[in-house]
Amino acid sequence: MSLQIKSFEEYREQYKKSVENPSEFWGKVAENFVWKKKWNTVLEWDFDKPEIKWFDGAKLNITENCLDRHLETRGDQTAIIWEANDPSEASVKLTYKELHTKVCQFANALKKQGAKKGDRICIYMPMVPELAIALLACARIGAIHSVVFAGFSASALVNRINDAQCNIVLTSDGGYRGVKKFEVKSIVDEALAETPSVEKSIILKRTGCVVTMQEGRDIWWHDAIADMDTHCEAEEMDAEDMLFILYTSGSTGKPKGMVHTCGGYMVYTAYSFQNVFQYEPNDIYWCTADIGWITGHSYIVYGPLASGATTVMFEGVPSYPDGGRFWEVVAKHKVNQFYTAPTAIRALQKNPIELVTKHDLSSLKTLGSVGEPINEEAWNWYNENIGKGNCPIVDTWWQTETGGIMISSLSGVTPQKATFASLPLPGIQPILITEKGEILEGETKGRLAINHPWPSIARTIYGDHKRYKETYFSAFKGMYFTGDGALRDADGNYRITGRVDDVIIVSGHNLGTAPIENHINEHEAVVESAIVGFPHDIKGNALYGYVILHDGVAHSDTLRKEINNQIAHSIGPIAKLDKIQFVSGLPKTRSGKIMRRILRKIASNDIDQLGDISTLLNPEVVAEIIEGRIG
Ligand code: WTA
Repeated sequence: MSLQIKSFEEYREQYKKSVENPSEFWGKVAENFVWKKKWNTVLEWDFDKPEIKWFDGAKLNITENCLDRHLETRGDQTAIIWEANDPSEASVKLTYKELHTKVCQFANALKKQGAKKGDRICIYMPMVPELAIALLACARIGAIHSVVFAGFSASALVNRINDAQCNIVLTSDGGYRGVKKFEVKSIVDEALAETPSVEKSIILKRTGCVVTMQEGRDIWWHDAIADMDTHCEAEEMDAEDMLFILYTSGSTGKPKGMVHTCGGYMVYTAYSFQNVFQYEPNDIYWCTADIGWITGHSYIVYGPLASGATTVMFEGVPSYPDGGRFWEVVAKHKVNQFYTAPTAIRALQKNPIELVTKHDLSSLKTLGSVGEPINEEAWNWYNENIGKGNCPIVDTWWQTETGGIMISSLSGVTPQKATFASLPLPGIQPILITEKGEILEGETKGRLAINHPWPSIARTIYGDHKRYKETYFSAFKGMYFTGDGALRDADGNYRITGRVDDVIIVSGHNLGTAPIENHINEHEAVVESAIVGFPHDIKGNALYGYVILHDGVAHSDTLRKEINNQIAHSIGPIAKLDKIQFVSGLPKTRSGKIMRRILRKIASNDIDQLGDISTLLNPEVVAEIIEGRIG
């Protein structure tokens, strides 16, 4: 494939070019795509405003790049392989031709239900082929999709629908995940009672569970597509028109609706996909993420399809029916590139090794990791037992905000180093700085920022450009701040050390501490609370909560359960606390800020090095908290 770098030397050359003349570099890359009209300028940017425009003036539709342009060359090649939760259910294979037909058909159904260019459409669906079809159908007609992970609660859904003012919701009756058959439509029903902007909902039948249909609002998917034409002209979009909104947790307040636009996102996801995974024609590529997260958007749907790849979509979980499921699926579909998260690797590592060895994994060429730092033990296990020591591991560092992979080795092309994401992709200019903003050179450790725009950087936070500026461009002038800490070795390899803000990554999910604390504080027995993360064997981090109760309220496990139920209901079960300690006070600075550093150390049982606590407003509370620590 013409976008691929094939040697370390070539990487160095390309990287140099991309930094010396970004416009020329990305202009050349963009020539590999189908545009209805070429751009006037490749890049215009100002990180102070901030305003970033890639391929300004160009016109395109991303689905013509993901579908139409492949019809002649690989129309009969499989585009999507779908593997069901239950191994006895037949897998589904859609060729590029079939996918094109289904996308066009559903795009017409959307139009019939009143959808038009610029509308925001919420997608709350389990991992079924129709989920991918839904994204592409929105893109086909120029509607902006906002996917919400179908494990989030009704109230999380309400907030996201209202924030984006969605007029249509695409959903299903229910879904399957492991041993669970869960309801989806009933959660949507609960949410739609509080979302006045929603006019229509289209419901896919997946589990056959009983649902109530609201006359005039709800329509079955199969009825919506019946008699729909399978031809649908792709809407002409500006390169900078919105493609989608995807919410990510912030350290404070409500989730941020990150906005990605059509042109740059397409160019960068395909470019990074082909280079990082070194995908070759006829390879079978599998990313285990859910399409509810950015990884699924960029590396199940858009990047692979824009590259003409065969991409696997998996409905289930790694532990069902047993801990060998991933490996069974790899063997069944002869997967060549396998991309998963450290939390899954750590969980699977605990299983008897026979669950791995009984499956033929010889098709594998590349292994990938994403979502959090991968610890050395997990890296080694992955390398030895899954890759059999001869599959390069790409440890890909990136974010919802970056749209695509930023730092990673290119499989088998650039050097890898265990636990290091390694080198930046061409076009990516990482920089390490001190807390005060001084630039650090050479082998060092600091805060990770990016010095120059790349094509898939999020352009704004939906409806709140001020927050976008404050969150990403205010910490260090003229740079995009990632919120992560990192260290750099003498060869320029980066190792991400984790968040430096109050976001905790639990099983690969970003959880802001503030929203969880707010929900706990809503409980009538609670005065105040503080959440910190502590290391967890499988989840990477788990949540530890310190909770102050009103005078006279008895400490009880019932209360702990109530607090967790409240969190599960308002945010989702992933945000539940592993440990809840009732305390009489929280260590605070004189300006009233909770000293989370101390709470983190206590939760991690690292109490020998608490540092200076004499400057606290209430140092005496520390001994009490240590005493009552839950081990
Ligand atoms: C973390 C996921 C270390 C990081 C694509 C980042 C990682 C946050 C890695 C973004 C990695 C992601 N090594 N840390 N390879 N990949 N992270 O928005 O803290 O869900 O800021 O995007 O995950 O998470 P998000």
